[in-house]
Amino acid sequence: MIDNNLEVQDIIQKKLSGEIFTIVRQAADEMQLECYVIGGYVRDIFLYRPSKDIDFVTVGKGIELAKTVANKLGRKAHLSVFKNFGTAQIKYKDMEIEFVGARKESYQRDSRKPIVEDGTLEDDQNRRDFTINALAICVNKDRFGELLDPFDGLKDLENLIIRTPLDPDITFSDDPLRMMRAIRFSSQLGFDIEPSTFDAITRNCERINIISKERIIDELNKIVLSPKPSIGFLQLEKTGLLDIIFPELVALKGAETKDGVGHKDNFYHTLAVLDNISKNTDNLWLRWSAILHDIAKPATKRFDNKLGWTFHNHNFIGEKMIPGIFRRMKLPLNEKMKYVQKMVGLHMRPQVLVDEDITDSAVRRLLFEAGDDIEDLMTLCEADITSKNPNRVRRYLTNFKIVRQKLKEIEEKDHIRNFQPPIKGEEIMEIFNLPPGREVGQLKSSIKDAILDGVIPNEYNAVYAYLIEKAKKIGLTPKK
Ligand code: CTP
Repeated sequence: MIDNNLEVQDIIQKKLSGEIFTIVRQAADEMQLECYVIGGYVRDIFLYRPSKDIDFVTVGKGIELAKTVANKLGRKAHLSVFKNFGTAQIKYKDMEIEFVGARKESYQRDSRKPIVEDGTLEDDQNRRDFTINALAICVNKDRFGELLDPFDGLKDLENLIIRTPLDPDITFSDDPLRMMRAIRFSSQLGFDIEPSTFDAITRNCERINIISKERIIDELNKIVLSPKPSIGFLQLEKTGLLDIIFPELVALKGAETKDGVGHKDNFYHTLAVLDNISKNTDNLWLRWSAILHDIAKPATKRFDNKLGWTFHNHNFIGEKMIPGIFRRMKLPLNEKMKYVQKMVGLHMRPQVLVDEDITDSAVRRLLFEAGDDIEDLMTLCEADITSKNPNRVRRYLTNFKIVRQKLKEIEEKDHIRNFQPPIKGEEIMEIFNLPPGREVGQLKSSIKDAILDGVIPNEYNAVYAYLIEKAKKIGLTPKK
């Protein structure tokens, strides 16, 4: 049990023994300003999480204090002043240090932009999002290390609770992004959201619409990167936020039964796959591939009298849905998106290699299409096994081991991953004196197919002979 006694003081004094705190203390004392370290940095002290972002709040002149501190730190400190916001930032070594004057804020209903006035430390603590983020430690000499914890944030840290300092309806209505932040902290830190705070998120969920998509996706990505992301996603769903920010995922919910035949609930399945993959990778985009791998199941669901429930081509339709989802959610429309599309498009393929007798040619084609991302694809496929039947899980995992082995053997033999045929388009044009066009494309893809199907080895002479042969069939001969 931590209380504001010796143990707390011991933790604080150790953590605040660095150069930066000494310099801020000297500057604040010289200027006769009350100064506190506040917010995430203080929270993380008690969670033993290292942090490089330090926020100082001072009663009065935040920008002036920053200037004095920057002077004392010397040439290695880079100061930026944001006059409009009344804040200043110093980059020093690997730290980002923010200074702001204590404020009192009041909000209007349709905007995130508050009316800001100077305030006391207490006003400043009142306007913060959660009790665990409202802790402040004084850095002035005569009170150095004194913890100011008006909302029992330390107790909430100990009991793993997220709670707003004021009436949660006010805190969330003031800044609706905090609803996402509550769920993000819960997922990141494994904390529970206190029930009346949780209910207020549900009541205010529509207010998320006044927040920019960029800020929302920032928080969502932190949930995706948390140790067990299903914690966050389940809360987003329960509060109604998910329906607003990511309706395609909610559409996966539900398990229908017809003629006694059911199918699994693809929402919970997707979250299980996401949790599984999160044990093996911190790659945000591979985690997004897990989230989106079955996204087209609702769109492709059919009931067939013989086959039962089918989701034909959900991988390809899913691949096509991704640009629309990425655009709307302000996820990047670049090679990261292409990677996620590739993963979703290919996620059924290793499974097929398990079911059928594996031919070298099928393995080569998968290697060619997945390229360097083949390992990630296998990680996704293994995470996709969510059966409750341990025998089944064992059988699938053993089968995937065989596929991995086969992939390794073929790659060592044929080097298909980053395969480039030894004769390219320009050379084909040169050999047959052809302009760019359909014939060149045809010849190129027949070379690629012949190599992938094992008809010819991936070597220049064999490819050349094959090319001459193929060209002859469409009436082309090499120029002399
Ligand atoms: N804060 C807030 N409401 C917000 C954002 C931030 O009240 N919507 C306050 C909190 O006191 C928070 C502090 O500003 O601790 C700093 O915010 P920020 O740097 O965004 O987050 P951290 O809490 O430091 O957490 P993280 O670094 O994990 O984002």
